[in-house]
Amino acid sequence: MTSLKVNVSGLRLKNPSMVASGIMDETGDSMIKMMESGAGAVVTKSIGLEPKDGHGNPTLVELDYGYINAMGLPNPGIDAFGEEMEVAVRAGVTVIGSIFASCEGDFSLLAGRMEDMGAAAVELNLSCPHASGYGMEMGIDPVVVKAIVASVKDSVRVPVFAKLTPNTHRLMDIGNSVQEAGGDAVVAINTLKAMAISPESARPILRNRFGGLSGPAVKPVGVRAVFDLYSVLDIPIIGVGGITSWRDAVEYIMAGASAFQVGSAIGHKGVQVFGEICDGMLAFMRDYGYSSIHDMTGVAHE
Ligand code: DHB
Repeated sequence: MTSLKVNVSGLRLKNPSMVASGIMDETGDSMIKMMESGAGAVVTKSIGLEPKDGHGNPTLVELDYGYINAMGLPNPGIDAFGEEMEVAVRAGVTVIGSIFASCEGDFSLLAGRMEDMGAAAVELNLSCPHASGYGMEMGIDPVVVKAIVASVKDSVRVPVFAKLTPNTHRLMDIGNSVQEAGGDAVVAINTLKAMAISPESARPILRNRFGGLSGPAVKPVGVRAVFDLYSVLDIPIIGVGGITSWRDAVEYIMAGASAFQVGSAIGHKGVQVFGEICDGMLAFMRDYGYSSIHDMTGVAHE
């Protein structure tokens, strides 16, 4: 019997697809909608300790091959987000709480709050490419990453995932830091630091000037990152970056991913993208004799 069920470091899912952080995951109701549309789990918008407004407009540039965004980590803060978590968790959504902070103590505090609110796992945003004092600024230093993951591991029992940046030549060192600190999985990749300029106004389009590139353009970078990480890590890898179709998802799994996340494609294909990807992948697995995602993980290395 061919099955899409996965177990990622103790997190059991009906299928390997997850909603990536930042898309349709800000309210309890939107998380319920995503789960009903077929996602195996939903990663929340990244939440910090205090409410944060984010950047002014424009925050998004739409390209033929993806998006560049610089939202500025807008979020209601962990206290107010509790109401949304309650709605989603009560409805049975498998919620992975994404958190950002500027030091290990705050990461641990936030992770503990997410666990108390019913998150099935936490995802540490160590990779936002353009926020001063957060994200990638910490996530490119293997020593800092190790300290943050170790501190969070001491604070919670739920699985701890670390979302990594591709904007580095030390990806494998950073992955090793996560593993050595006891992290349960890595999530690769977050967006690539990028910008767009308007010829007419002779200025960067985004208010923040720089943003993060996502969508089909980044898929080959993500597949390569997962392939590299799989060659050095024993912990599971969750692949993300430009997945639009079942073929893209299979590429990530064959590179070494145990599960995958979909973000930008929800924007242009709608919520039915999860059903399409899972149905297509199941048909492919039946045709090619893979009985589980586990069977297919990393086969491109053999
Ligand atoms: C934002 C955060 C991210 O982690 C990312 O990859 C892109 C944008 C943001 O909120 O601006």
